[in-house]
Amino acid sequence: MEKIIVEGGKRLEGEVTISGAKNAVLPLMASCILTEGRSTFTNVPELDDVKTMSKLLRILGAEVEYENGTLSMDTTRLNNWIAPYELVKTMRASVLVLGPLIARFGRARVSLPGGCAIGERPIDQHLKGLGILGAHIKIEEGYIEATSPKLNGSVIPFDISTVTGTENIMLASVLAQGETMLLNAACEPEVTELVHVLKKMGAEIEGAGTDIITIRGVNKLSPVNGHEVMPDRIEAGTFLIASALTQGDILIKKCRFENAGALIGKLLEVGVEVSRIDSGIKVRGSDKIKSVDITSLPYPGFPTDMQAQMMTLMSVGDGLSIITETIFPQRFMHAGELRRMGADIKLVGNSAVVRGVPYLSGAPTMAGDLRASASLVLAGLLALGKTQVSRAYHLDRGYDRLDKKLEALGARIWREKE
Ligand code: EPU
Repeated sequence: MEKIIVEGGKRLEGEVTISGAKNAVLPLMASCILTEGRSTFTNVPELDDVKTMSKLLRILGAEVEYENGTLSMDTTRLNNWIAPYELVKTMRASVLVLGPLIARFGRARVSLPGGCAIGERPIDQHLKGLGILGAHIKIEEGYIEATSPKLNGSVIPFDISTVTGTENIMLASVLAQGETMLLNAACEPEVTELVHVLKKMGAEIEGAGTDIITIRGVNKLSPVNGHEVMPDRIEAGTFLIASALTQGDILIKKCRFENAGALIGKLLEVGVEVSRIDSGIKVRGSDKIKSVDITSLPYPGFPTDMQAQMMTLMSVGDGLSIITETIFPQRFMHAGELRRMGADIKLVGNSAVVRGVPYLSGAPTMAGDLRASASLVLAGLLALGKTQVSRAYHLDRGYDRLDKKLEALGARIWREKE
């Protein structure tokens, strides 16, 4: 195992290029189950989650190769519809194979994801949607056993907005008989990206980016060639905050300004200079960080995946900030670790009351999830002395060489064995 060490106090300057989005590429990989033949994607980030999804697709019978950001998958000889516990327990997004497996084989056996570091995270909406489409579902020996010789389009009202739930049902219904209408569908850009790719494959879908998505089932989909994966808005957001924390001056290249709207709006309130330029986003930190309140919400609201990083920024704000988490009400593992670095944070229900302090001090830390780990690396950038972030594998699941990119911007950051 490795840990990340950060020596604080360096101003970040320069340019950073954003990688492809984790939460876009995982459903895109699952979508290939619906086709026969070879699909290729470019701008695929080098992440452990991509490796896990590749492993899962290989178990299902796909040929998967990855080289220099290009992922190639041949799904002609898929012959297995079982997603085993050993993989699903390491990555919940594995559940995204459920919908396409039922569509392709009329059956699927997928391990039911258990609890998670950021909350309970049930998948009842996925199962409800598949049930409405006509799948027969039971839970046995920890597995979802789904069968359906034929899926029929229908109206599916989601009780809550769910990103992978919307994606899973969409993946199941593109080959169903007739029309499916998803109500209260998720509007996240990664859902829109999936629609975009499914349409390239030949699917008929309308309403992407809105909360009503209509899918007219088709008989067959074809592989997609050379699709460039959209940039990761959470990685871009993490660099926006890195610059804000270090009074930095960074050009964030290859990212979409509009997808980071809620975060950028908050950073402007905080006093950070953020501007859109042709090649990306320019961000310059200021010497005074104004405290602001944050509430995580479905897109286009403030993303839960940026809540931890924003808490780091608010830890050194000039005043009081209330951070309310409405998506995963227990997603506060970072709060206790930030406190160990000197932050003044009190948790009250699903809110954190953060009273800004003048500085943080480096400490050994550990966090049990991806974004919490990122928030600690960010804290290390401005803390006095050295910060250790144990279990770097959490970061490697979802950030493409975050430490190397920060180092290139001037951070003192390296890895050690632990
Ligand atoms: N929920 C249910 N029932 C369901 C599905 C969801 O109650 O059947 C609840 C969840 O417990 C949560 C809320 O609905 O309270 C929203 O969860 P959602 O289903 O949207 O989350 P997800 O699809 O499991 C994706 C991302 C997460 C991101 C969330 C929210 C992927 C692979 N994962 O998860 O990403 O936090 O949407 O935007 O797309 C991350 O990248 O660090 C990460 C956790």
